[in-house]
Amino acid sequence: MSDAPIAFIDLKAQRRRIGARMDEAILNVVESAAFIMGPQVAELEGKLAAFARSKHCLSCANGTEALVLPLMAWDIRPGDAVFCPSFTFAATAEVVPWLGATPVFVDIDPVTYNLDPAHLEATIEATIKAGKLKPKVIIAVDLFGQPADYPAIAAIAKKHGLKLIADSAQGFGCTLGGEHPTKWADVTTTSFFPAKPLGCYGDGGAVLTDDDVLMDVMVSLRVHGQATKRDVEAAGFTHDPKYLNMRIGMNSRLDTIQAAVLLEKLAIFPDEIEARNRVAARYADGLAGAVATPRVIDDGVSTWAQYVVETDKRDAVIAHLKARNIPTAVYYPIPIHQQAAYARFPVGPGGLPVTEAKAGVVMALPMHPYLSAADQDRVCAAVREAVFANA
Ligand SMILES: Cc1ncc(COP(=O)(O)O)c(C=O)c1O
Repeated sequence: MSDAPIAFIDLKAQRRRIGARMDEAILNVVESAAFIMGPQVAELEGKLAAFARSKHCLSCANGTEALVLPLMAWDIRPGDAVFCPSFTFAATAEVVPWLGATPVFVDIDPVTYNLDPAHLEATIEATIKAGKLKPKVIIAVDLFGQPADYPAIAAIAKKHGLKLIADSAQGFGCTLGGEHPTKWADVTTTSFFPAKPLGCYGDGGAVLTDDDVLMDVMVSLRVHGQATKRDVEAAGFTHDPKYLNMRIGMNSRLDTIQAAVLLEKLAIFPDEIEARNRVAARYADGLAGAVATPRVIDDGVSTWAQYVVETDKRDAVIAHLKARNIPTAVYYPIPIHQQAAYARFPVGPGGLPVTEAKAGVVMALPMHPYLSAADQDRVCAAVREAVFANA
């Protein structure tokens, strides 16, 4: 069997498929010189909204700022509680203290790694009882690509009058019962970081919502709090709305070149999601009995940002694969609530035992839509050898 290096995420394989079209799209932007807010940006926003069945889409500079834009628009501030998982990338929680508010960490479901609705409810109730923080927002994460339990989480949000954000940075394109997270969440966000299922050639992000007023405010916040159409009319302002600054905003535009890249990638994204699911199914067969393979929520379709398995022989398996030129990664070795910078923030009642246990046993294998059957067979054989040699 070959020992050639296998890519963890092979971004070059996609270029072999659409490279020529992509180069032309990028060159078009360069030649037009419309680097900022060129026509490709609005075209992409329209296509993303249609794809994810949302009324509006606002592109922005990255998936982190996609999370902070709605929080800023809702005026989240000191004394407010934002409930989120700790078993996630730091960005999910990081944006909350930016605004002086408090992330409150909730445990995850042991099968899907996504927010545990029962612990979410218990955490909200404990926060209300403690009386120190005002519950305002829930951020659910579509970890590793699969949708959170939105029907249950949205019912809890509704019961307590909370806003719901779907952080779909890893799961954009995932569905539950054929519906995108946009069906349940007030706001759905994503990241176009190159390694994401729908990634660009740099940083990028987007926010999706059906809420007209929220959209207006986020449009303003994205460009330094510039006046919205409504603001301009109310103020009778006749100059460029950029110079009527209604709120404290930021600069979070998506570059036109990245929008052009994403338009090409979005065209093949449904096909790539299918390919990712074929790769995942082949892994599930090849790894059965050796490690715990992932399970997707009933009626869910994952975009498989990561293919994460569990084994209590993790170090041995990682070393065995590394020696055979097969890369792996651990998402996440230290949950956010155990990171020093986040240690002062509260966790739900009983702590986060599932989160802490998972951090010790999860590992991700190479995953991308163009992973060949032969390479997958090599990965599976190496995992089996490592597990059974260490049995
Ligand atoms: C769950 C999650 N949320 C937010 C982000 C932030 O996205 P970005 O890196 O584009 O800021 C990421 C990824 O990086 C992520 O995995």
